[in-house]
Amino acid sequence: MTSLYLLGSLFLLFILCPNYEAINVSKNNIRVANENVDKDLVFNSNGQFKIVQFTDLHYGETVYYDAFSANAQNQVLIAEPDADLVVLTGDCVSGYAWNGSAGWLASKWDHMVSPMLANNKRWAMTLGNHDDEADLDRQQIVEYDSSFNLSLTQQGPNDLHGATNYWLPINDQNGEPQTILYFFDSNDDNCQNITGWGCVYPDQIEWYRGVSLSLQAKYNRIIPAIAFMHIPIPEYMDMWNFYPVNGSLYDTGVCCFSVNTGLYAAFKEMGDVVSMHVGHDHDNDFIGNYNGVQLGYGRKSGYGGYGPPPSWKHGARVLEITANPFSISTYLRYEDGSSETQAPYHLPQAKEQYNTCCDTYGFVNVTGNPISNCKLYEQNFKSIHSKH
Ligand SMILES: *[C@@H]1O[C@H](CO)[C@@H](O)[C@H](O)[C@H]1NC(C)=O
Ligand SMILES: *[C@@H]1O[C@H](CO)[C@@H](O)[C@H](O)[C@H]1NC(C)=O
Ligand SMILES: *[C@@H]1O[C@H](CO)[C@@H](O)[C@H](O)[C@H]1NC(C)=O
Ligand SMILES: *[C@@H]1O[C@H](CO)[C@@H](O)[C@H](O)[C@H]1NC(C)=O
Ligand SMILES: *[C@@H]1O[C@H](CO)[C@@H](O)[C@H](O)[C@H]1NC(C)=O
Ligand SMILES: *[C@@H]1O[C@H](CO)[C@@H](O)[C@H](O)[C@H]1NC(C)=O
Repeated sequence: MTSLYLLGSLFLLFILCPNYEAINVSKNNIRVANENVDKDLVFNSNGQFKIVQFTDLHYGETVYYDAFSANAQNQVLIAEPDADLVVLTGDCVSGYAWNGSAGWLASKWDHMVSPMLANNKRWAMTLGNHDDEADLDRQQIVEYDSSFNLSLTQQGPNDLHGATNYWLPINDQNGEPQTILYFFDSNDDNCQNITGWGCVYPDQIEWYRGVSLSLQAKYNRIIPAIAFMHIPIPEYMDMWNFYPVNGSLYDTGVCCFSVNTGLYAAFKEMGDVVSMHVGHDHDNDFIGNYNGVQLGYGRKSGYGGYGPPPSWKHGARVLEITANPFSISTYLRYEDGSSETQAPYHLPQAKEQYNTCCDTYGFVNVTGNPISNCKLYEQNFKSIHSKH
């Protein structure tokens, strides 16, 4: 009966996606740098797993900023001693601050990971749009990051756009996967040569569908999943416009993909990704439920770059995941040790609605300018520093 069902679903799989090469999901491709570090992610005996999301750390601009950023990470990790994993959702380093010397990225990266080393926390990383602007390209940054014993970051298939395309299972105490973490590389800018921000390209989405279908075929069920990347999908803008959310938007709108490549549609099709977490827009921290998929920003963690708004504390979003049945709850943890569950609801208002992702054609910020805080900050930084 079971095997018949399995055969049937494999057949269906074949019919539905004749172009997929079955992905070998039993292959453990996690590079083992140090056998003393346990690379397996496991729910505790109460079925709980906790993730701390740091986003937009922006190391490399000034020694003061870097010291403040490291302190913020350290304070958050001290306040969350039971965190099982740190996820870095991009722009760990301000590549535009590069001084032209080889070894620059690695020296900033060493500083950036030092709070995780000091607190003995494993981490997994997705690249942002600024990390690769210095002396290392995307693949080289992944190679460098994964040389740390505590890093779970992996190099994605080399025929896909971007580098940080990979997934990690969180198993229960019997070794059965209960949650899948997907990491996507949202690239830099001009998705498919359309002016604006980068995106997760169709080839990456096909890869995700292949992994998801293979997992469904292997385990004969849909395993709930969480997605992490740097740049938000356009559905974040739609959610802000038309749905109640917790938290705020103070940035130049939503700096989402310049082309909607259908990642959200693929999540709904596969039915596994029920929660997604990004960064990129330093002055946005809202989170909500968009037709059954939680879409959330983190809290700007670092001191480099613009933002967060003056009244906001630097910090992290914390994700508390419960297995079987899956549930997730989140709150913000700040560098002064305090924490906050975001409330009250923001309700849609006509005067606050955006019709395009920032920096795409037709975009103007609320004061009538066609450029986002992000682009403006980088331009100003470069023009100030090139004068010397
Ligand atoms: C999948 O990977 C595992 C572990 O590397 C290996 O033992 C198995 O033979 C592979 N299966 C296929 C179909 O390639
Ligand atoms: C560039 O930065 C690196 C890392 O901070 C430093 O070691 C190096 O001396 C700097 N080079 C110059 C030319 O300033
Ligand atoms: C990784 O662990 C090994 C064995 O404990 C150690 O020799 C090595 O220096 C560590 N590497 C890093 C980058 O921390
Ligand atoms: C984008 O432009 C480059 C250079 O002109 C070209 O090689 C590439 O095929 C274009 N890509 C797309 C998706 O249009
Ligand atoms: C959103 O706000 C509601 C009502 O104040 C609160 O119960 C909930 O925990 C909040 N959710 C998040 C993710 O902050
Ligand atoms: C809009 O852009 C202008 C310059 O392009 C900038 O000075 C201003 O701060 C921006 N406003 C907002 C709310 O982002």
